[in-house]
Amino acid sequence: MKKAFVKSYGCQMNAYDAARMADVLGAEGYAATDSVEEADVVVLNTCHIREKAAEKVFSEVGRLRVLKAERAKECLDTRIVVAGCVAQAEGSEILHRSPAVDVVVGPQSYHRLPELLAASRTKRVVDTEFPVEDKFARLPPRRSRGVTGFLTVQEGCDKFCAFCVVPYTRGAEVSRPVAAIVAEAEALVREGVREITLIGQNVNAYHGEGPHGSPASLPTLMEALAHIPGLLRLRYTTSHPNDMGEDLIQAHGSQPLLMPYLHLPVQSGSTRVLQAMNRKHTADAYSRLIERVRRVRPDIALSSDFIVGFPGESDAEFEETMRLVAEIGFASAYSFKYSPRPGTPAAERADAVPEAVKSERLARLQTLLDAQRHAFSAAMVGRVVEVLVEKAGRHPGQVAGKTPHLLAVQFDAPTSTIGTLVPVRIVGTSANSLFGEVADDAAVAA
Ligand code: 5AD
Ligand code: SF4
Repeated sequence: MKKAFVKSYGCQMNAYDAARMADVLGAEGYAATDSVEEADVVVLNTCHIREKAAEKVFSEVGRLRVLKAERAKECLDTRIVVAGCVAQAEGSEILHRSPAVDVVVGPQSYHRLPELLAASRTKRVVDTEFPVEDKFARLPPRRSRGVTGFLTVQEGCDKFCAFCVVPYTRGAEVSRPVAAIVAEAEALVREGVREITLIGQNVNAYHGEGPHGSPASLPTLMEALAHIPGLLRLRYTTSHPNDMGEDLIQAHGSQPLLMPYLHLPVQSGSTRVLQAMNRKHTADAYSRLIERVRRVRPDIALSSDFIVGFPGESDAEFEETMRLVAEIGFASAYSFKYSPRPGTPAAERADAVPEAVKSERLARLQTLLDAQRHAFSAAMVGRVVEVLVEKAGRHPGQVAGKTPHLLAVQFDAPTSTIGTLVPVRIVGTSANSLFGEVADDAAVAA
């Protein structure tokens, strides 16, 4: 049997796309493999947000070129596919610089992989079009490999934050119709998925076609999904503060399947920097938004993204970010040093913050965010929480799952609990996980 190795970098949308490419290849008779050495097709699903993204892809392809040559000695053919946002951004440049690459395919056209692989037998091919046909309608049935699954409901972004490549690589915002999403969710649940994370670059701007032809909002979509028997949990990511409507905030109090977790990137605590980033909201507006969410769901776990050292960021402006973090309190967060992405407006700026200053700011911010993350986990000790069991644990007899607040938990239970909700009393924490014991005697919190 032919084998395909798909490696994905970056965001959850890329993870989703990688799973779908595996589905496309699966329908063509390729079995998925974790071993690149035995793969007849190797797909690198690249991320353009990574620093020096293109360079990293070129060096990875360099390693694959050696592997391809080794396999060729045994008369084995290896097709190398570069997909994802670097493929979109660099296009045919990848073919020029990397002779080992056979196919370059962008995030909007990977449903055409079979045709592209066939065409690559005679010449190397690039497809970075934004096709008129609906990619999702052309993809084979959804296969799943677990208890939790991502489901793309919206793609692209119209926000044009000054630092970000996404509007260029993923294009304008497009939402999928409710019916198509419900059908894909039903397929996932049939395969054993119990928790679905609705994903999109700007997921809370979702406005797909509803049952009566009029646009449906994200909470309306969640209502439709909540009727699927067997589906136990819903999450969504990533959101923009300006699309956080009242109905979505209210859903955090009224939609029982929606988990108490919100990833809402703020990027900076300085209104002046936010303006320079073209974020189109103030730091104060973000804080007020969080207050409204917490009024509806006081125990919500908040998560965010931060960029330190955006061009022109002063010491005092960075301190405003520290203050905002101290005031709000996050359960988890991603923080980055600003780095210029070619083609974005911020990359043209001449007032870069020195690297050493960026490093020092990032270290301080991460120390604070880590302390908050640990405090959030530590506060769970002694509580009984509902855990969705996802897989066998690290040690025999253990299983691993997640709390409603997306904290990882390990506890002793048979693997027959995989895919079910189990009340667990939290008894301890480590750096990245909670430890618990089954609590069948107690009322479940959260
Ligand atoms: N430099 C640093 N971080 C960036 N991000 C996006 N672009 C850049 C950049 N040029 C971060 C933002 C975004 C997250 C996905 O990646 O914080 O929310
Ligand atoms: Fe990028 Fe801003 Fe769009 Fe997020 S909202 S994808 S950071 S442009």
